Amino acid sequence: MSIILEARELTTQLVTRSGLVTAVDHVNLRIEEGRALALVGESGSGKSMTCASLLRVLPPNGRVVGGQVLFKGEDLLAMTPRALRAVRGRRIGMVLQDAMTSLNPLMTVGDQIAEVFRYHHGIRDRAELRRRAIEALEAVQIPAAAQRLDSYPFQFSGGMRQRVSIAINIACSPELLFCDEPTTALDVTVQLQILNLLRDLQRERRMTIVFVTHDLRLASQFCDDVAIMYAGRIVERGPIGEVFHRPVHPYTEGLLRAAPSLGAPRERLSTIPGTPPS
Ligand SMILES: Nc1ncnc2c1ncn2[C@@H]1O[C@H](COP(=O)(O)OP(=O)(O)OP(=O)(O)O)[C@@H](O)[C@H]1O
Ligand SMILES: [Mg+2]
Repeated sequence: MSIILEARELTTQLVTRSGLVTAVDHVNLRIEEGRALALVGESGSGKSMTCASLLRVLPPNGRVVGGQVLFKGEDLLAMTPRALRAVRGRRIGMVLQDAMTSLNPLMTVGDQIAEVFRYHHGIRDRAELRRRAIEALEAVQIPAAAQRLDSYPFQFSGGMRQRVSIAINIACSPELLFCDEPTTALDVTVQLQILNLLRDLQRERRMTIVFVTHDLRLASQFCDDVAIMYAGRIVERGPIGEVFHRPVHPYTEGLLRAAPSLGAPRERLSTIPGTPPS
């Protein structure tokens, strides 16, 4: 099995009013090609900052202060911005939590998808762009794709918007797709539809997926491997079935016990005392 993306001792700091925060603390990750990895941890544990560091899309107050990120052996952190733009959006995609924040509210959905083909493939022919955009919407199972092309994001439901965002991110058939809590803003039935869609797309296109979530149970239905984050560190990792059934780290066990279940007798949900460290 080959490794598509590897982080070695990745460390990221953020400047905040109360001082320096080490949001990512000597993280080591090996993402195997063709598999789905869940990055799980509670709010503030550093999941999003890890993804942002891997892809070099940190906020202006953030900086990678140490480590390496190897994408198929090439150091992403050492790449020129130009070389990086050829990788991001084309070979690596990123779907965010709320599609409303990643889509442009003033552009039709069709134009936003066409932009990807214009930018990354240099296609200029309008009819060809339209044809590609329809195909992209069909790939994420949006009904009546041709008619929906001229709609704006606000005219779509939350689930359909997330499908559009996925369509844009997989338009160039990326080898690796990051999904940062792609379904947290959606209701549970739509959540499952989107996850099944991602799973199907992953199989069809042999994509590798990094799926960020705080829901270990959801991750276990969908992912092959898991890395558990706590306070900027990866505290446990492995094939998800193993970690799920035999958690080693107390935090992982806590995560599992904190999940409500419909069948279980009613009792207080378990929590971990205190608040997470900065
Ligand atoms: N723009 C920012 N400026 C300063 N600190 C930030 C910024 N974004 C995140 N942080 C801090 O970095 C740490 C890691 O945050 P991160 O967003 O990676 O957490 P997360 O695991 O993705 O949480 P969530 O599940 O809520 O999305 C937290 O302490 C957070 O407060
Ligand atoms: Mg996050």
